[in-house]
Parts: sequence; C-alpha cells; structure tokens
Amino acid sequence: MTRYIQAPPAAHPSAPSPIRATGRSLNWGVVSTGRVVGKVLADLQSLEDANVIAVSSRSEERARAFADEHDIEWAYGSYEAMFAEPEIEAVYIAVPHGQHFELVMAALKAGKNVLCEKSLTINASEARTLVAEAKEQDLFLMEAVWSRFTPAFNRALDILESGELGTPSWIQADLGFVAPYDPKWRLYDPEAGGGALLDLAVYPLTWAIGAMGFPNSVQATSDLNDDGVDIQTAITLGYTGVRHAQLMVSLVSSPTKEARIACTKGWLGTNAPLHNPTKLFIHPLNGPARTEVFEPVGENYTYEFREATRCIQEGLNESPTMPWEHSVTTMAIFDGIRHQLGLRYPNDSYASSSK
Ligand SMILES: NC(=O)c1ccc[n+]([C@@H]2O[C@H](COP(=O)([O-])OP(=O)(O)OC[C@H]3O[C@@H](n4cnc5c(N)ncnc54)[C@H](OP(=O)(O)O)[C@@H]3O)[C@@H](O)[C@H]2O)c1
Repeated sequence: MTRYIQAPPAAHPSAPSPIRATGRSLNWGVVSTGRVVGKVLADLQSLEDANVIAVSSRSEERARAFADEHDIEWAYGSYEAMFAEPEIEAVYIAVPHGQHFELVMAALKAGKNVLCEKSLTINASEARTLVAEAKEQDLFLMEAVWSRFTPAFNRALDILESGELGTPSWIQADLGFVAPYDPKWRLYDPEAGGGALLDLAVYPLTWAIGAMGFPNSVQATSDLNDDGVDIQTAITLGYTGVRHAQLMVSLVSSPTKEARIACTKGWLGTNAPLHNPTKLFIHPLNGPARTEVFEPVGENYTYEFREATRCIQEGLNESPTMPWEHSVTTMAIFDGIRHQLGLRYPNDSYASSSK
C-alpha cells in the first residue's frame, strides 16, 4: 500500500521557518548575472533576514539591467568593486567553476563571507587553499550544494539512520541531460571546468556521502570529447564491508535522474531529479511500501540560503551540515577520477605553479 504524507520538516510546527534564519538582517551581494543567479535569486530575496543589496557583473550594463529587473539597489560593473563595498557582508558567487577559485579568494581577502556555487573549485588543491584563507580571515565559506539542505534529502538520511531499512549496501544514482554541443558554453569549455563530472557529479555523490560516508576507493570510465572534457562518466565507489555506489553523469543522454539506496532490510528511492526530489519511495522488506511527498519552498534553494545566512549571523565559519571536509573530499575524489580519465584543466597547472 502506498501512503501519501505531507512530510517536509519545514512544514512541521516545531521546524524552523524556511524563510527566516535567526532574525538579524544580513546584506548580500551577488556575483554574476548568469543563468543560475536568475533562477535562485528569488529564494534568497524571500528570506526575511537577507537583504540582497547589490549585484556585480563584468559588464556595468548587464549589472544595471539585472538590478532593475530584480529590484536590487546597487549595480557594479566589476566584481572587485562590489567586494570593496563595506556594507556588503556576504557574497553569493555563481560564475563557471574555472573562475571560482580566483573570485572566492578575492572576496575572502576583501573580508566577505562567501557562498560559492558547486563545484567549489577545479581541484582539491584549490579547495584546501580557500579553506585555509577562510580560516585565516575568520570568515564563512560554503559550497552551495543546495540538495544537502532540502527536506527530502534530510528525511531520507533520517530514515536510513533509523535502521528501519537495515544497513545501506548499494547505491545507484544518475544525473544528466542532452546538452547541445557549443564550444563557448561553460559545459564544454575546459577553461571553465567543463564536462559532466564537475557540473553534475556533486549531486549523486552527495547522496553516496550522505548514505554511506566517504569512499575508500574510486574507479571511473568516461568518454572525453575532442576538447578534452568528459561528456559521460560512470563512477564506482568502494567502501569497507559489502558496500558500493554506482554513479553516472552525462551531457549526451537522458537518464532516470533518480537515486536508489538498497539496504539489508529494504530500499529507498527518490523521484527525479535526485538533486531536488519531491517524493521518497520507502520499501521495507517486512512492511508495506509508502511514499512521502514534499512541497518545495520557492525553488527549494531557500534552505541553503537560510543555512548560509544563519551560520554567518551566528559567527560560524563553516556549516555543520555542509562542512569544508565534504567539499575538499569531493574535489579529491574528482581529482582521483580525473587522474584515471586523463582529464586535465588549465587550472591544474596554475595550482602547481602558484599555490
Ligand atoms: N545550484 C544549481 O542549481 C546550479 C545550476 C546551474 C549551475 N550551477 C552552478 O553555477 C555556476 C554558474 O553556472 P551558470 O549556468 O549560471 O553559468 P552561466 O549562465 O554561463 O553564467 C555564468 C556567469 O558568470 C560570469 N562569468 C565570469 N567569468 C566568466 C567567464 N570566464 N566565462 C563565462 N562567464 C563568466 C558571467 O556573468 P557576468 O557576465 O554578468 O559577469 C556569466 O553570465 C556554475 O558553477 C554551475 O555549476 C548551479
């Protein structure tokens, strides 16, 4: 029997409000006028205690147009000029991965707390350097893995931890879409950190890390295109005990976009897409199957923005839910995968020469 329940923790009377962090207003500035900023901005603006007061772009014209469209007071024609504004306390950085390191570093050095899009960097060396800088400057830094904060993801971890389904033993998770080839698109541009791995694998990997922790071994196969970026990559993670995860990411096929976690006493699955599911399917071996349903709040980016705002308001440098170790280890896993695939980015050589 399938049981439908309305179960987002945020809707629970004792759960924190999804649109309020702690109450003290925090001034945010946004870096870039790209696609994802347009998608997530309303969720940041919906927080009662987050004021989005500025946007910056490489073009003053684009910044002004974006500011007018989204009711933002200040528009800057350079990211650095916005970082120099003392009233801005936190910045949300959403540029291609290849540019994350340079801009996060510049923001931290200017004294700003930082929420940066995934993947945090191109490689683990860059990620470690940014973490060291955040510590040095006593500032907040978090990779914007929004899925980690959604009610469905956290409910899934609670179910797994409850033992109802036994021990997680096998995970399958895939994410992808057919991305028409365009050498200028960041997805296909090595300078931007293009490829399926850095753009998509964060999400299925976050399910594997959430359910089973960090792996002991990684094996990958992939196809690289003529530009040298991976267009479809299959990853097998090994753990101690009888535990494995099989992840797939693709820019050339349309997979299920679902996650399934097989356990010793049943299995748990999501609907698509696994980075923002609205349903969990729970199938205990010794009981009736049920479905739990989750209503999104805005586009569901609200939860990561609330977490970043709360952490900064409370003086934390690191989110306990999305700690630095998660991001640095993710980048180390990607380094291992890229080593096996022969996948190199220009930033890899900058890392060895300048850090
Ligand atoms: N959380 C999510 O759901 C989600 C979804 C998609 C992407 N992302 C992440 O968000 C980041 C941005 O992705 P996007 O799809 O928004 O990218 P996009 O549409 O290509 O926009 C990126 C923006 O970055 C700025 N930029 C700075 N340096 C650049 C450079 N060298 N080349 C191109 N643009 C540059 C540009 O803004 P200006 O011209 O205004 O300066 C550009 O519009 C990526 O790290 C990606 O992984 C997250």
